[in-house]
Amino acid sequence: MRTEIVAQILVALVAAVSASPVSTSHVVHERRSQPVHAWEKHSRLHPAAMFPVRIGLTQQNLHRAEEFINQVAHPSSPDYGKHWSAEQVAETFAPSQQTVESVKAWLSDSGIDPSRVQTTKSRNWLTFNATTMEVESLLKAEYHVYTHETGEKHIACDHYSVPAHLTDHIDIITPTVHFDKKISAPRKVLSHDELPDTVHELNRRALFTDGLGGGIVGSPTDASNPKQGAAVTNALMTLDNCDTMITMECLRALYDVPIPTSAISNNTLGIVEYTPQAFLQSDMNMWFKQFAPDLDGKSPDVKFIDGAVVQTTNQSFTFNGESALDLQFAMGLVYPQQVTMYQVGDLVTGASFNNFLDALDASYCTFQGGDSKDPNIDGQYPNNLAGGYTGPENCGTVATTHVISTSYGSNEADLSAKYEMRQCLEYMKLGLQGVTILYSSGDFGVAGNSGQCINTQTGAYNNGSTGTFNPSFPGTCPYVTSVGATQVMNGSTIHTPESASQRVIFSGGGFSNNFAMPSYQKKAMATYFQNHAPPYSAAQFNNSQTVRGYPDVSANGVNYVVAVNGKFSLAFGTSASAPAFGALLNQINENRLAAKKSPVGFINPTLYANPQVMNDITNGGNEGCGTPGFQSVQGWDPVTGLGTPNYPAMLDLFMSLP
Ligand SMILES: *[C@@H]1O[C@H](CO)[C@@H](O)[C@H](O)[C@H]1NC(C)=O
Ligand SMILES: *[C@@H]1O[C@H](CO)[C@@H](O)[C@H](O)[C@H]1NC(C)=O
Ligand SMILES: *[C@@H]1O[C@H](CO)[C@@H](O)[C@H](O)[C@H]1NC(C)=O
Ligand SMILES: *[C@@H]1O[C@H](CO)[C@@H](O)[C@H](O)[C@H]1NC(C)=O
Ligand SMILES: *[C@@H]1O[C@H](CO)[C@@H](O)[C@H](O)[C@H]1NC(C)=O
Ligand SMILES: *[C@@H]1O[C@H](CO)[C@@H](O)[C@H](O)[C@H]1NC(C)=O
Repeated sequence: MRTEIVAQILVALVAAVSASPVSTSHVVHERRSQPVHAWEKHSRLHPAAMFPVRIGLTQQNLHRAEEFINQVAHPSSPDYGKHWSAEQVAETFAPSQQTVESVKAWLSDSGIDPSRVQTTKSRNWLTFNATTMEVESLLKAEYHVYTHETGEKHIACDHYSVPAHLTDHIDIITPTVHFDKKISAPRKVLSHDELPDTVHELNRRALFTDGLGGGIVGSPTDASNPKQGAAVTNALMTLDNCDTMITMECLRALYDVPIPTSAISNNTLGIVEYTPQAFLQSDMNMWFKQFAPDLDGKSPDVKFIDGAVVQTTNQSFTFNGESALDLQFAMGLVYPQQVTMYQVGDLVTGASFNNFLDALDASYCTFQGGDSKDPNIDGQYPNNLAGGYTGPENCGTVATTHVISTSYGSNEADLSAKYEMRQCLEYMKLGLQGVTILYSSGDFGVAGNSGQCINTQTGAYNNGSTGTFNPSFPGTCPYVTSVGATQVMNGSTIHTPESASQRVIFSGGGFSNNFAMPSYQKKAMATYFQNHAPPYSAAQFNNSQTVRGYPDVSANGVNYVVAVNGKFSLAFGTSASAPAFGALLNQINENRLAAKKSPVGFINPTLYANPQVMNDITNGGNEGCGTPGFQSVQGWDPVTGLGTPNYPAMLDLFMSLP
């Protein structure tokens, strides 16, 4: 799509309309904070080139977002659980007439004839086609053509400005500074192939396997051990091995969760997967036969979004590990409740979190949304690339489950603050409607994906040996619940408190550079800084004590036994923690729905006001960026949050609320 636009631009012969100069004082609205990776800046864009401009208008009442969410989600609110309808949400936040009029007046005064400007339904976006010359004058910006190492082209400016009196009316303008990436890789989920010590351990475990042939848990290739004895089922079901292999039994024992016995219609757990990540039914069946025989042959209820497919062409841990881990445990843990899997994006371009949100919420998609028209940020559908999805983008076409768990994430620094804010506010709107949004907090401790940190001087990513901490997104959005990872300590049992994950992965955690501290965190944060002030300066993280800290909660994320590509493997990651936590919330919802109450929705205000319903984790850190990271301490900490679930206490608490 972009290539097409650029081609159009380069041949454009449209006469430039000379913009009448308007004397207003402009202020910088957005500026790219770091150099663009893999993109090379080329010549200035031709002054007569024409391209589509979109102005996202500021929504109304956003300053009341926290007040509104607390109304429905704070345990002391008389309106707790009284979730809003989609219509109420849309009406409350639509931009004001004054906003629409002032921005239109500016365009008109600047020589963009009103006849050229289209207003989207419900007035959230103004769109028009304009020449480079017009846009550069309008935004006091300079546009360049960029080429990606893959040959793709893009147009962008380094910064842009708007008149001072409009800064509060304009949210975001595209195309401008944005250069970001769609989701291409899931959270790190490691296979045994990458883990020699673990393979060794697994092989040792396999000494006790029998019947299934031994080897890597259950693998037929490693049956030769002379010490074979106990059947694999016994070996796997005993709770003595939870320090080396996590099964559903381990999780239920750790968090005191009963096996569900009922399934109210429509109480399904939502799990999001991004193509080409895919599950293989044969793996599902292999795992179910071993751990959940009633599910043998069963699949999740799959919702396909934007031409998605559950591909089977590429099969390896890197293609199947994530879906296998998420779905096997989720389906097993909630059964007889069901899992709804949202498979998002086609095989050619993939998709972003915004594409998924568009599919859930027509209002976000058509007029409330923050999608960028930059194909590097959000998938553009219909997709004209060979083999791409040629249908219209899915827009409000899939039903929303009460709990949605996503084990993918970006770095906060990958995307612009405004783009993230707009998306974050959509999570707030889903929260108002009673949806719980869970995101894994990341697997690289205080570092970002792949262990990268931020060069303190240049703002560029580095190899992670030093630099500024690199928090994850959407985990730092205050309207999602960010889930970190814990482990059963080596040599310990389920009866010993867990520690923060110190094996293979380190629980993502730290402090946002974009989002202010939500009111629900104030008390926990004050205690944390008072009693456990971390030994870092502003060069490492925003230590102003006014920003959002993450994660909120945690759950075991180490040594999950998963069937992938026909063999049992161990998997590690906050990827495991998020769906496990989601499964438990689905069970709490089951109880609330049976009692004719609403689903739990946005849980953070309730949990921070009642930290006693969590098992506080006080051991282990989240190293990264050449530091030991933060430490798990008494109370909330930026490693394991409030801690792991104490299910009976959580259930009692949520059942005690209206
Ligand atoms: C901009 O131009 C394109 C291509 O000619 C056209 O499809 C589109 O409707 C125009 N948009 C506006 C807002 O005029
Ligand atoms: C996926 O499979 C296709 C078709 O066999 C192949 O061309 C491609 O290289 C594979 N991708 C990876 C990353 O293995
Ligand atoms: C829940 O039930 C409603 C009404 O029957 C239906 O429209 C919706 O699709 C269901 N939700 C899910 C997630 O299946
Ligand atoms: C990472 O970067 C630092 C500073 O540039 C360098 O000294 C170090 O050798 C690099 N480490 C690796 C593993 O590449
Ligand atoms: C776990 O503990 C055992 C026995 O104390 C030790 O041999 C092994 O190396 C430890 N493994 C790890 C990963 O720490
Ligand atoms: C830290 O965050 C606060 C609140 O958003 C902000 O005002 C301040 O500039 C940030 N400090 C740094 C060093 O980025």
